[in-house]
Amino acid sequence: MSSRPLQTSENLPNSAHTAVDVVLDTAYQNITAAKWSELFASARKSNLTEFIADMFAGKHINLSEDRPALHSALRNLSKTPVLLDGQDVMHDVTNVWHRIEMLCNKWVGVTDVIHIGIGGSDFGPRLAIEALAHVPGIESREMRMHFLANIDTAELARILDRAQPNSTRVIIVSKSFTTLETTMNAKAVVAWLKASGCTKGQINKSLFAVTANVPAAKEFGIEEDHIFPFWDWVGGRYSVWSAVGLPIALQYGFKTFEEFLGGAHAMDLHFKNAPLEENLPVIMALTLLHQQQEHDIKAYAAIPYADALDWFPKWLQQLDMESNGKSIGRDGKPVKHSSPVVFGSAGSNAQHSYFQLFHQGKEVIPIDFIAIRKPMSDRPEALAHHRILLSNCLAQAQALAHGKTAENPNDVYPGKRPSNLLLLPELNAFYLGALLALYENRTASLGALWNINSFDQPGVEYGKVLAKPIEKALVSGSDHISPTDSIDDVTAARINFLNS
Ligand code: F6P
Repeated sequence: MSSRPLQTSENLPNSAHTAVDVVLDTAYQNITAAKWSELFASARKSNLTEFIADMFAGKHINLSEDRPALHSALRNLSKTPVLLDGQDVMHDVTNVWHRIEMLCNKWVGVTDVIHIGIGGSDFGPRLAIEALAHVPGIESREMRMHFLANIDTAELARILDRAQPNSTRVIIVSKSFTTLETTMNAKAVVAWLKASGCTKGQINKSLFAVTANVPAAKEFGIEEDHIFPFWDWVGGRYSVWSAVGLPIALQYGFKTFEEFLGGAHAMDLHFKNAPLEENLPVIMALTLLHQQQEHDIKAYAAIPYADALDWFPKWLQQLDMESNGKSIGRDGKPVKHSSPVVFGSAGSNAQHSYFQLFHQGKEVIPIDFIAIRKPMSDRPEALAHHRILLSNCLAQAQALAHGKTAENPNDVYPGKRPSNLLLLPELNAFYLGALLALYENRTASLGALWNINSFDQPGVEYGKVLAKPIEKALVSGSDHISPTDSIDDVTAARINFLNS
C-alpha cells in the first residue's frame, strides 16, 4: 500500500477497469471471457447504447411520466448545451449555481441549519455532509447542520433543543412541496421560531426552500428570492446535484460543491462515451445481471470500508429499490429480473454483524466491496489502521470467492460467492461525486437491461393515500370509519387498540 497519488493505469490486475481514477475489479465474479462477450452482446440487444445516448440527449426515457431524466445536466460543469424541447436547460442550471454561490458568500452569523426533507430530498445531502466531514483538513463552516426527515417528533425535539432560534436558518426541501412529513415538520419549526420570539421579518429571513413546485413554496410563505428551483426532469432520488445539495455548499464552500459536481460530471462523460466493454457502470450492471442468470439472487450488499460512507448504503437503497423495485416493464409486461433487496453498512463493522450469512448461509448475495486507498486521517496510527481495514476487505472477498474445505461440515465454506472490488484513490468531494454518479448510471443501466423505467415510483403512493383516512380514524375513533375509507378489519382493530 502506498500513500502517493494513485496512477490508476499502473499495475492494474487484468480483471480491472478504471474510470475517473476509480478502479473496478471483477475477478471474483467468475465470469469467463466467452461469458463477458455474451453479456455485452445481450446489452447491445437490449439497446443499452441507444438508451445511454437518449438519456443524455434529454429524450423522454421516463415513459410513464413522459419526461426526460436529465440529472446529468445538473453537474454538467462543461456547460455544453443540453436541449429540452429546443431550450438549453444549462441557462437555468447555471443561474441556480450562481445563486448558491451568492448565498454562500453572505451566509454569516448562522449557528444552525435545519434541513427539512425526506427520501431523495434527504439522503443525498445527508450522505455528502457526513462523508465529507471525515475528510482530513476539509474547510468547514462553524455551524450545526441538522437533518429532519421523519414525522416522528423525537428528532424534531432533539434538534429544537439544540438550535438557537435567532441564528437558525431553515431549508425546506421537497420536489413536490406536498410531502406530508416535510410540510408538517416545516410548520412545526416555523411555530417554534414564533414561540421563541422571532419576528415575522426574522422568520422570513430564516426560511429557504428548494423545490420544483415554486408556487406551493410561495404559498407556504417563503420569499421568492429564498426559493431555489429545480425541475420535473430531475427525479427526487437523483436530485442531490441540484440546489438540494445546498447544505454541501453552505457547510464546505461552493468550491467543494463544484468539485462534487465535477467528479459526477467526469463519471457521466465516461458513461456516455466509453464503449460498453470499458464502461464501469455498465460492467457493474452486467455483473449483477450475470449473477441473476446463474442464481436466484434475492439480495445484494454494498460494503464501504470507510466510516465516512456509512450513509452510502441507505442512499443506495432508495436509488436502486425505488428505481428498479418493479415487476412490470416499460412495455407493460412482467419482467424477468428486477432489483434485489439492497443493504449494507461500513466494514469492517459489517463483518461482525451479518457476514456469517454471506460465507455460510444458503443465499448467494453478490457484494460490492468499496475501499479507499488513502487513509482518512493524518494521525500517526492512520496508516497501520488503514492496512488492517484494507486487509479485512481483501480477505473477506477472497474467503467468499474460494471458500474452504474441512472435515467438519460446520467448518466448510462453499465459496463461489461473487463480489466486485471498487477502489477510490481517496475520499474527497470529487471522488464522492464520481462514486454516486457511478452508481446512478449503474442503476439506469440495470433498468435498461431489465426493461424497467428507473425514473418513476408509482408503488410508493398507495400507502400515502391510505394513511389519510387512518389518521382521521385515529383522531375521531374507529366508529367513524366509513366503507369508502378502505380500512380493513385488521387495521380497524389496531386503530381501536391504539385509541384505547
Ligand atoms: O415517497 C417517495 C418519494 O416520492 C421519493 O421519490 C422522494 O424522494 C420523496 O418521496 C420526497 O419527495 P419530495 O421531494 O417531493 O418531498
